Formats: sequence, C-alpha cells, structure tokens
Amino acid sequence: MSKFWSKVVHGLTPYTPGEQVQMPGLVKLNTNENPYGPSPKAIAAMQEAAGDGLRKYSDPSNAVLKDAVARRFGLAREQVFVGNSSDEVLAHTFHALLRHDLPLLTPDISYSFYPTYCSLYGIEAVHVPLNERFEIDVADYAQPCGAIILANPNAPTGIALPLAQIEALLAAHPDQVVVIDEAYVDFGAQSAAALLGRYDNLLVIQTLSKSRSLAGLRVGFALGHPDLIAGLERVKNSFNCYPLGQVQQAGAVAALDDVAYMAQTSQAIIASRAWLTAQMQALGFEVLPSQANFIFTRHPRHDGAQLAAALRERAILVRHFKAARIDQFLRITIGTDEECAKLVDALKGILS
Ligand SMILES: Cc1ncc(COP(=O)(O)O)c(C=O)c1O
Repeated sequence: MSKFWSKVVHGLTPYTPGEQVQMPGLVKLNTNENPYGPSPKAIAAMQEAAGDGLRKYSDPSNAVLKDAVARRFGLAREQVFVGNSSDEVLAHTFHALLRHDLPLLTPDISYSFYPTYCSLYGIEAVHVPLNERFEIDVADYAQPCGAIILANPNAPTGIALPLAQIEALLAAHPDQVVVIDEAYVDFGAQSAAALLGRYDNLLVIQTLSKSRSLAGLRVGFALGHPDLIAGLERVKNSFNCYPLGQVQQAGAVAALDDVAYMAQTSQAIIASRAWLTAQMQALGFEVLPSQANFIFTRHPRHDGAQLAAALRERAILVRHFKAARIDQFLRITIGTDEECAKLVDALKGILS
C-alpha cells in the first residue's frame, strides 16, 4: 500500500500463479507444464539464433513467426497476432476488444486470470454459472452482452465444448467478439480455428506453453479476422513494439513446424490421462471428463485442501483453488507415467 499508487493499483487483485518451488525429487503437477520437454529442433534453432544478431532489435512485425502460425492453420499473416505468452495476448485482447458498454460474459468457473484483466482494464463482467455437471451451456449466454470469453477446454475443469456449440454461440452473437482461449486444445478438443472463415467475430487464442512444452519461452498467439488482429496490433504497439526476442521467435517457429513431435508427446499425455483417470476412479475419486493435460478430481470423503497438503508433505504438488463450488477439487497435471504412478501410490497411502 502506498500513497503513490494510482486508484487502479489499489483496486487490483493480481493473479496468483501455481508455486514454482525447487525441491529435490519433487513431483510437480501443479502448473500444467508438459513433462516431455520441447522439440529438439526448437532447442537447436534457439542455440543457432543466440549469436551476434542479438545486438539488433527483433522484427517488430514478427513476420517469420506469424507466417509459421499461419502455415500451421492455413491462414494469412494478417489473421495472426503473436505475443509474449498467451497471457499477454489475453491482456491485449481484454484491452482492445472486450471493454464495451454492456458486460463481458464469462463462466463462473474458468481461468482465474480473466477477472484480474477485468479489474486492470475496468471491464464489467457477468459470471455465467457452469451447469451442475460443471459444463458450459451455451444457451445460458443468450443475454445482452458486450463480448464473451471462454476457455475450451475449460480450466480448471478440463471439459471441452463441441465445435457445434461454439458455432451456435458465434451465430447468436454476430455483433459481439467471442474469444475462445484454447490453451489446452491439442490434448483432445476441437479447435474453433476451423470456423474462422465464417465468423468475423471469432478470436482464437493459443499458447506454446502446453502442447509444445515451452512454458518458459513465453509465446502465445491469436487467430482472427484481420480487423480484430489490427486492434490487437494497435494496443501492442502502444505498449511494447518488441515483446518477442529473436531467440524466442526462432524457437517458436521450429516448435510450430515440428508437428510430429507435438503429436507424439500429446498422444503420450492423452494415454497417461486415461490411465491416471482409471486409477483415481478405482480409489473412489470423481474425475471430470478431461480433454486437457490435467484432471480435475474430488473425493466424496476427503477434503480437497487436506489432500493437497498431504501430497505436499510427500513432495507432490497439485493445485487446489479456495473458490466457491470447486474447493473440494484438486487440479492435477498429467506428468510422466512414473510421476503419475508416484501420485497414485501416495494417494493410496493417504487414503488408507
Ligand atoms: C486457460 C489458460 N489460458 C492461458 C494460459 C496462459 O498460458 P501462457 O501465458 O503460458 O501462454 C493458461 C495457463 O495456464 C491457461 O490455463
């Protein structure tokens, strides 16, 4: 608290990320990091880019990286925006596209950074409750609004919305921007990018942090109509013209082009998710159907916060949210098979 802070800063509740602790032998299943590491081609490209060329500023138009994203999705460069993480892309999106006279609609249980951006940019939001199965019901969004944002698959539930439902939402709101945050889409959900040719109100946001295992590189992107992208560029160029460095862009391009590596590692995570889900159910846990690289689970007879604390004592970190409706749940990242097995063994000990 300081008398020098602006009114906005006084009113902020900053986002609290999952812990990044260093502990020998730690099984870290709390921040949805990918256990398999980035594509070796991405590492090689970054090593090559780390040279004398760094004395120059990076390309402010990010042309090479935008073209790599465009190639991946069959789009034009003008339909692509890139940023330093999808959190940054989201921040510019809230600033550029989601502040209107009518409120923003977003699920009551979703990525907890959204309310932080709303408070930072003075956006009024209506939190639309998930149904009793913790699903988004698009019929609940049939109300006056300035814009809509949702995560698909949703976080922290992991539940995905079928493409037909997203299309229904887009068709019902032709005059509002609908943002689909697809941080986890590559683990089994359908991308709304397929709808971009038909809907000028659609903005799809993705990250290289999850399926490309580059959380530490900080690269995210948005796909949409060139007019939406131009709005994001205006905000970006009023904030930082060079948010992405050369090494970062080189690594991101190589990771995007290594489609086979991403597919193979994502398939491994999907297989481990099925195994872990079955093991948790055998221990009496309810596991929501996940299309993400994590599961969201609760036990009918054991408190969520206590389970998280007991796992922590055994050097296993999972995420627990002290929030209404979900405070009995644990969000558990899918780790390697060995890490998943350690988690199951620890839970067996705790529950016995
Ligand atoms: C739903 C969702 N969107 C966006 C992000 C941000 O990803 P990043 O900033 O690493 O690109 C996350 C991170 O966990 C997330 O869960």
